[in-house]
Amino acid sequence: MLQCGTANPFGENAAYCLGVLASGGGTNLQAILNRSASGRLPARVGVVIGNNSKSGALVRARRAGVPAIHLSGRTHPQPGSLDRAISETLRSHGVNLVVLAGYMKKLGPATLESYRNRIVNIHPALLPAFGGKGMFGKRVHEAVVQSGAQVSGATVHLVDEEYDTGPIILQRRIRVAPEDTPDSLAGKVLAVEHELYAEAIRLFAEGKIRVDGRNVRILSERR
Ligand code: GAR
Repeated sequence: MLQCGTANPFGENAAYCLGVLASGGGTNLQAILNRSASGRLPARVGVVIGNNSKSGALVRARRAGVPAIHLSGRTHPQPGSLDRAISETLRSHGVNLVVLAGYMKKLGPATLESYRNRIVNIHPALLPAFGGKGMFGKRVHEAVVQSGAQVSGATVHLVDEEYDTGPIILQRRIRVAPEDTPDSLAGKVLAVEHELYAEAIRLFAEGKIRVDGRNVRILSERR
């Protein structure tokens, strides 16, 4: 895997550098790594930060030759020091866009300020429904199935100080079948997430995202 800032065989935009933060298994990270390696995504992963030293995401990053760094309350117990370490790690790796991929922690003010409007998150439902504190991973799909909702999907949004409240960038819907369980729904939504996240990152890398307050505008695409 090529690092950010090295010679670039995919054209100018391949220098666009991602810093991925992840807590869990890391399938969204893997989807990004795969697309980047094959030239389908004009961006590279410069660093992966995980708050869980044993997470699959850190294993996947190392396997791809990407710097994989464990930063958590364990490594940085002093108030504010974890936030500063995250923001410095992102900056020192030349990160342009911060990508939360199943990252279950809130970011602190230093990181939010350094990367204002350049931090994205993916949520496994159609926000503003089924979001907020405590709504992550399988819990989201359990709540959707229990509610009887007939549609769900994935949302990519900008990250602000709260959980799941930042301006929405892209959403994609899927139908919830009467026989869906939280697990079957999770699988369907995850497949959509992998496509949708790559699409959102591409738009950022190509400079096609404009943020105006709560409104995100996507500049028209010439293909
Ligand atoms: C994904 O479904 C992601 O949307 C979700 O965690 C999963 C991580 O999967 N994130 C949230 O619920 C955030 N509120 P992955 O580790 O396989 O990418």
